[in-house]
Amino acid sequence: MADNGKTFGTAAKRWEGIGPYYAMFPIRFADAVIKEHTAAGDTVLDPFAGRGTAIFSASALGRRGFGVEISPVGWVFAETKLGPAPLEQVEERLQEIANAGCDYAKQAQSLPEFFKKCFSPSVRRFLLAARDGLDWRGCTCDRTLMAILLVYLHGKEGQALSNQMRQTKAMSPRYALKWWDENGTKPPDLDVVKFLQQRIRWRYAKGVVEPDGSRVYLGNSVTLLPKLARHMREEEAPKARLLLTSPPYFGVTNYHYDQWLRLWLLGFETDAYINRGPHQGRFTHSVRYRNLLKEVFCSAAKLVADDAVVYVRTSKDPFTKEATLDALREAFPMKRLVERCRPFRKPTQTHLFGDKTPKAGEVDLVLLPTKAARHSLGHQTSVAQQ
Ligand SMILES: C[S@@+](CC[C@H](N)C(=O)[O-])C[C@H]1O[C@@H](n2cnc3c(N)ncnc32)[C@H](O)[C@@H]1O
Repeated sequence: MADNGKTFGTAAKRWEGIGPYYAMFPIRFADAVIKEHTAAGDTVLDPFAGRGTAIFSASALGRRGFGVEISPVGWVFAETKLGPAPLEQVEERLQEIANAGCDYAKQAQSLPEFFKKCFSPSVRRFLLAARDGLDWRGCTCDRTLMAILLVYLHGKEGQALSNQMRQTKAMSPRYALKWWDENGTKPPDLDVVKFLQQRIRWRYAKGVVEPDGSRVYLGNSVTLLPKLARHMREEEAPKARLLLTSPPYFGVTNYHYDQWLRLWLLGFETDAYINRGPHQGRFTHSVRYRNLLKEVFCSAAKLVADDAVVYVRTSKDPFTKEATLDALREAFPMKRLVERCRPFRKPTQTHLFGDKTPKAGEVDLVLLPTKAARHSLGHQTSVAQQ
């Protein structure tokens, strides 16, 4: 399987890439921050965990990680890479789902036009069986298979189960139908079991990162973090030594809309224009956005040690940055705040997928325990607050 110039010689390198997710951290960035600010055995927290990059990096580096993610797609990716089921179980389940596909011939015929132009009849039958049969919330084996299915659900011709699509985000049905029509592309006629088996075996070829208790919880950080804090107090669990996160940016990404096709496979509605909950839009309501950041960072403060480092990557867009700074100052008044240059210059996901609109760029806001601030951060650009 092509490795795009990357080396995939270890289990961590094969699993860290699960799965395609807009606005994710580069894993090397997470590795560098975790190595700089924690020691082996320390705990790392990410309340906006996405596909679990920071938590996976913590686990692979011998730390413990825990995080929260509201998107089921991000959560399935994160929990899978932290503890996939054994290969044999996943392969067996793949075959069971393929067999169950026979019962879905009629349903596959009555799906909306988009699905017929996106997937071949046999792929549609398989996906419907997976949608009904895989208990991705409660069963590790089903979640692992679902994560792998979500990775290959849509993407470039020859690399996915779908007609030509982007991999990171799904196009709207209307746009996709028009594009396929104009370009004359058809859904690939492939053997689903063979296609997935090959990719599953590649993923497992170097083993897995052994599960160590690191977790990403599915839910809303606003309500879950206070519960986690109570649980940690009762268990006398050690507090996090590093909070490493990247909150949603104001008015940029709709994590639910962009993932509508993957959400469909997880059992949610086929409506591409999902925008129901307060954390499902593009985060364009300024007061709600400020409140989200304040509530999450203030709750997170109860989960981190007094001498913890707080490392937040966010947008340089003035409103996003100011709202984040306000929330961080309120949550961590005793820490010293430093703005840091982006240490990595790789193109963002949005550029990789053809989005050429001007971007505000990103900034790292780092809060240090007051004493450590004097000794660290050789390449800081400015001190935002004394
Ligand atoms: C910038 S992304 C984080 C990406 C992550 N660093 C990664 O590498 O995958 C922000 C994430 O915050 C999540 N999110 C937004 N509101 C949330 C909330 N109230 N509770 C938990 N997660 C939330 C979004 O679904 C999105 O996945």
